[in-house]
Amino acid sequence: MTSVTYDNIGELVTNDPTQGGESFLGLLHDAAVVVEDGVIAWIGEAGGASATDERVDLEGRCVLPSFVDSHTHLVFDGDRAEEFAARMAGEPYAAGGIRTTVAATRAASVEALLASATKRLEEARRQGTGLVEIKSGYGLDVATEVKMLQVARQLTDETTFLGAHVVPTEFADDHRGYVDLVTGEMLDACAPYAKWIDVFVEDGAFDAEAAREILLAGEAKGLGLRVHANQLRPGPGVQLACELGAASADHCTHLSDADITALAEAGTVATLVPGADFSTRSPVYPDGRRLWDAGATVALATDCNPGTSYTTSMPFVIALAVRECHLTPGEAVWAATAGAARSLRRDDVGHLAVDATAALTVVDAPSHLHLAYRAAVPLAGPL
Ligand code: NIG
Ligand code: FE
Repeated sequence: MTSVTYDNIGELVTNDPTQGGESFLGLLHDAAVVVEDGVIAWIGEAGGASATDERVDLEGRCVLPSFVDSHTHLVFDGDRAEEFAARMAGEPYAAGGIRTTVAATRAASVEALLASATKRLEEARRQGTGLVEIKSGYGLDVATEVKMLQVARQLTDETTFLGAHVVPTEFADDHRGYVDLVTGEMLDACAPYAKWIDVFVEDGAFDAEAAREILLAGEAKGLGLRVHANQLRPGPGVQLACELGAASADHCTHLSDADITALAEAGTVATLVPGADFSTRSPVYPDGRRLWDAGATVALATDCNPGTSYTTSMPFVIALAVRECHLTPGEAVWAATAGAARSLRRDDVGHLAVDATAALTVVDAPSHLHLAYRAAVPLAGPL
């Protein structure tokens, strides 16, 4: 057994209000944490820990639970930088761009996909991310969806089958046939490698009726439910997610009052991915303020993907959520850690307490406020 004391922590974000003050962030000042074999063994005052094998002096820096990036598409091949440039020059975003990545991903080897996804994951880790969810959805045929999930499984337990991302070109005239494939042979082949199932509910992707059928088929195979909902315009995705008791409705850029009430009442987490609103030059951002004030559980994630949000940076997402979604810096930090853990129904990460996983991120600053305040400065990293 090895034990380490992280001492002289200026501000410790525990996300556990029973540990620090009344704030939902459970803030402790001048604190220390003892980690034994990857698990938190003790939390207390700086200088108060018993002797351990090693002692690391944090010199007043801020420590928080590692970010949980609960929505990514880290496994893909191909480059869509030109599409981004065209958008910034005035072209609108269309869900059909997904098919560009599908062609490249079908052609890529397992080795190439694993190498590029591993590189993106390391990039995320360097910026303080501890756990990622990874979706398929750039295969849209049985072999490539399985290939993507097998690669994703090597990087995380939080894998999501997204065969219902868009209808592939070869089924352009047979949407019914594609839904049958997704709910039949493709689901059978993918379910062993997935914990979750997700559907993109949007004009140009899947309507509510097809999405319900696909989600229920996944649930019958033991998969948890997630939905890409209300990204590009108002739509039925959020209501469907709430009706089916999905763990998470993601994007939530265009919400009605009824959508917000439904999220709060159902306990379906609203996962905001403002990096996608940024990169699609969306005229609106999700209203994090209204969601939080209505009592909905809010999570933040990168949605890292080559089309709409090619960032691995949770600090960037936190800064956007504060500036554009009107969360406070503290709410954004909570959403990027505890909220995102809740969206994955994980209670071992996203907070710091004795017996929790010691996934710790250090911020080279005196408080969590600096994550949004000093946007784009690489302050956060793994401890
Ligand atoms: O989460 N919304 C759908 N899927 C991705 C976009 C994927 C793409 O354009 O390649 C998203 O934004
Ligand atoms: Fe996505």
